[in-house]
Amino acid sequence: MRIIMLGAPGAGKGTQAKKIAAKYSIPHISTGDIFRANIKNGTELGKKAKTYMDQGLLVPDELVVDLVVDRVNQDDCANGYVLDGFPRTIPQAEALDKALMEMGQSIDYAINVEVPDENIVQRMSGRRACVNCGATYHIVYAPTKKENVCDTCEGELILRDDDKPETVQKRLNVYHEQTQPLIDYYTEKNKLVEVDGTIDIEKVFDAIVKILGE
Ligand code: AP5
Ligand code: MG
Ligand code: ZN
Repeated sequence: MRIIMLGAPGAGKGTQAKKIAAKYSIPHISTGDIFRANIKNGTELGKKAKTYMDQGLLVPDELVVDLVVDRVNQDDCANGYVLDGFPRTIPQAEALDKALMEMGQSIDYAINVEVPDENIVQRMSGRRACVNCGATYHIVYAPTKKENVCDTCEGELILRDDDKPETVQKRLNVYHEQTQPLIDYYTEKNKLVEVDGTIDIEKVFDAIVKILGE
């Protein structure tokens, strides 16, 4: 099963992608997570990506496409994967389609997690991420058992650098300009499915499982 998660920043792409990956035993590939890991490790790619990410801008296509194409060619992707945060522009989607065609493959579903802008800014200010394992929580909607301590690895929780309200607004603008056109792109290819992302995390997942099958 090859799946793409679409949706605004904070719509819940990562939250749902992790659940899909666990249930269907396929890798979760988040370009945002890959960049954040590179920033943490001080790589050249990380240094380049950080200048864009901190401003709420997209990293240039040429820094993303090869990375993802290499990743989906790895052995653990043989039975599929869930892409979270990629593609994000029409050129990225076209590059992915071309690479998949060369592999004799195609995408099964592009899942659009719908959440209006009004809900987003509030959601983001409550998000916390584990510095150690990357698990994501929310101080109200998905709290940890112990305050500020990761449930899985006991790592410290932080607010992401780009989750400040002014940067979130910028990311929303970038989303509407550059990523939202992908909804039409995948509709035309008959791949688009939509779920309401404003309801409970578990209910959103139920709706996704209904689409993907048990
Ligand atoms: P990325 O890491 O992909 O960030 P994003 O798209 O802005 O999305 P988020 O991760 O912020 O949100 P999400 O939809 O995953 O929501 P989450 O599940 O965490 O990208 C970051 C940056 O990297 C980009 O700005 C760009 O610079 C760069 N980049 C990455 N990929 C790129 C690409 N392909 N091309 C170019 N640049 C790229 O949920 C959010 C919060 O809400 C959490 O706290 C969660 O617990 C809570 N929550 C989730 N679901 C619900 C619910 N149903 N009800 C209540 N709360 C909920
Ligand atoms: Mg995410
Ligand atoms: Zn952790």
